[in-house]
Amino acid sequence: MSHDHDPHEFSLAPALENRWSPRAFSRTEVLDSTVLGSAFEAARWAPSSGNSQPWSFVVGFRGDETFGKIVASLASGNQVWAEHAAALVANVAAVVDAEGNPQSHAIYDLGQAVAHFTIQATTDGLMVHQMGGFDAQMLGKELMLSSSQRVVTVMAVGSAGNPADLPEKLQEREARPRTRKPLSDIVEGSARYA
Ligand SMILES: Cc1cc2nc3c(=O)[nH]c(=O)nc-3n(C[C@H](O)[C@H](O)[C@H](O)COP(=O)(O)O)c2cc1C
Repeated sequence: MSHDHDPHEFSLAPALENRWSPRAFSRTEVLDSTVLGSAFEAARWAPSSGNSQPWSFVVGFRGDETFGKIVASLASGNQVWAEHAAALVANVAAVVDAEGNPQSHAIYDLGQAVAHFTIQATTDGLMVHQMGGFDAQMLGKELMLSSSQRVVTVMAVGSAGNPADLPEKLQEREARPRTRKPLSDIVEGSARYA
């Protein structure tokens, strides 16, 4: 499952080491709620501001109505590969609380819950690819969300597929090594890294 990437000096937990965002998903795999149970349980146990838990998830499995709605909302560059994944999930934040006050940490908290989901799913042998390239307004309407809810990202979930099934341009991207800024660029203060 692992993918070429920049070398790193410090070790990572296996799921963090193995996680990456593929476009080639198995086109025949069938997933059900049970398979995703641990990943959603991991999302449920994410920390959040004041334990507000401002997240919810709308799941579609390939072939069902929710899946179709999510596919229809995707940017064409995402549609071309994501429509083959076994599951698509709309990641929703409640950006306004019950009293009508903005929940300023809602998007941060949702992101953390999705990170938990992703790491548990990776541990369970699945792969996850998050996307911001979709029509959030259209999808929110199609999913009949309330005005206090916002679809922040969607994610494709499934097992690894065959990169040869992707359009040529995406095959090249799929094989590209993963890169990151060095630690010295992102950590300041008393901790210093080369
Ligand atoms: C908020 C967010 C939005 C993203 N949007 C897209 C997207 O629309 N299409 C896509 O192919 N990848 C998308 N990605 C995936 C990133 O491109 C990917 O995580 C990044 O390049 C690092 O690669 P890695 O996940 O394999 O480490 C998104 C990721 C995040 C977290």
